Amino acid sequence: MENIYEELFEKAKKASENAYCPYSKFPVGASILYESNNIYTGCNVENVSFGLTLCAERNAMAAAVSAGEKTGIKAIAIYSPKQKECMPCGACRQWLNEFASNEELKIILEGENGLTILTLKEIFPHGFKFN
Ligand code: THU
Repeated sequence: MENIYEELFEKAKKASENAYCPYSKFPVGASILYESNNIYTGCNVENVSFGLTLCAERNAMAAAVSAGEKTGIKAIAIYSPKQKECMPCGACRQWLNEFASNEELKIILEGENGLTILTLKEIFPHGFKFN
């Protein structure tokens, strides 16, 4: 197991502690590694108008763009204390597709025994893109 994935996973875990999720009580943390080797984190932020909730993954990507990063995502770790292998939702997969360095982007999750590592290609084939 590459050490950087462990580090990324620990950062996602830490980020989940900041989740604002009084309605679902389902905290999520995400941490994202870019080609620059910078790492950005995010947590879910809910709202009493439930549909306005922001996912951890998209908050992390928005933080990266706000810091000047844009494209070049190499890996993302996602963690919830409530669920092993907490997968990104469909909307977050489309966002990852937008900013991925390529479709080998690694998705790092908490498995039953250590980390589960998938690729964006596996979980989001044939994503929408302009030519
Ligand atoms: N959630 C995320 O943060 N990321 C996902 O990919 C799936 C769902 C959050 C949204 C909501 O606050 C809670 O998990 C339950 O749906």
